[in-house]
Amino acid sequence: MRLGFIGTGEITAAMVRGLKGRGHTILVSPRNAAVAATLAAEVPGVAIAPNEDVVANSDVVFLCLLARVAREVLPTLPFCADQSVISVMVDAPLATLRSLCAPATDIAITIPLPPITTGGCPLPVYPASPALDALFGARNLILPQPSEAALNAHLGASALCSPILDQLLTATEWLTDHTGNPAAAEAYIAAMIRGYLPERAQEGDLATALKKLSTEGGLNATLRAAMAPAKQSLRQDLTGFHARLELDDPKART
Ligand SMILES: NC(=O)c1ccc[n+]([C@@H]2O[C@H](COP(=O)([O-])OP(=O)(O)OC[C@H]3O[C@@H](n4cnc5c(N)ncnc54)[C@H](OP(=O)(O)O)[C@@H]3O)[C@@H](O)[C@H]2O)c1
Repeated sequence: MRLGFIGTGEITAAMVRGLKGRGHTILVSPRNAAVAATLAAEVPGVAIAPNEDVVANSDVVFLCLLARVAREVLPTLPFCADQSVISVMVDAPLATLRSLCAPATDIAITIPLPPITTGGCPLPVYPASPALDALFGARNLILPQPSEAALNAHLGASALCSPILDQLLTATEWLTDHTGNPAAAEAYIAAMIRGYLPERAQEGDLATALKKLSTEGGLNATLRAAMAPAKQSLRQDLTGFHARLELDDPKART
């Protein structure tokens, strides 16, 4: 397939590396120059081209700009009716994309994360995108969403990554204080948490794992009880995203 990426930054680099060795020809735009040059040197089939050429010569165009830049850049580009457009941009709703990328109509939004490079990345998408399925479905977890609001809720949930990693880092530091071995402490914490996460969770898997860690008076249950205020705060802070992500209050629907 002929693929194009407009905006060659962190998330483009992760996606292009995730497509390495799959026989696609890939055009990336020249900014960021260093990232574009690295990808062209590292991934066979990648070439650098001006934004106009990327759009004119791609069956699937990935939009990987900051949304405010996209509003200036995209209207000048030669989108056509028979190409697919996949946006990964935060703060660029579908209605805006439809007008910025006209006459293209096969437009979808997804939320890749940097681990897409190695596969296993969850990819919520709205509306469904056959192009995304074909390119990333084999190695990642495509999760079609029923609405744009449902997709946006995943953006809120994805913000959990940073505070969870922060907690893991704190536990690693605490463990290191007692062992004197930061590498082993980090290896232990990362492998331990990974061990509790199923590769492809089914509904109820997380609750089952938690139940197994709930022995009354045990260290797990004791620490969880002590951290209960943080759980309350998490719900409140996620709810604080409602206006920014244009989400309804789910309680108002029932
Ligand atoms: N990073 C993530 O984990 C992640 C995950 C999901 C979604 N996203 C979304 O993906 C988008 C890009 O994020 P990112 O983290 O990859 O940001 P980034 O690293 O800053 O990449 C944005 C790229 O756009 C380039 N650019 C600026 N003006 C341009 C122009 N006129 N034409 C072509 N390219 C231009 C920038 O080049 P210069 O450096 O030369 O300015 C930069 O390389 C954002 O909307 C973000 O919300 C990111």
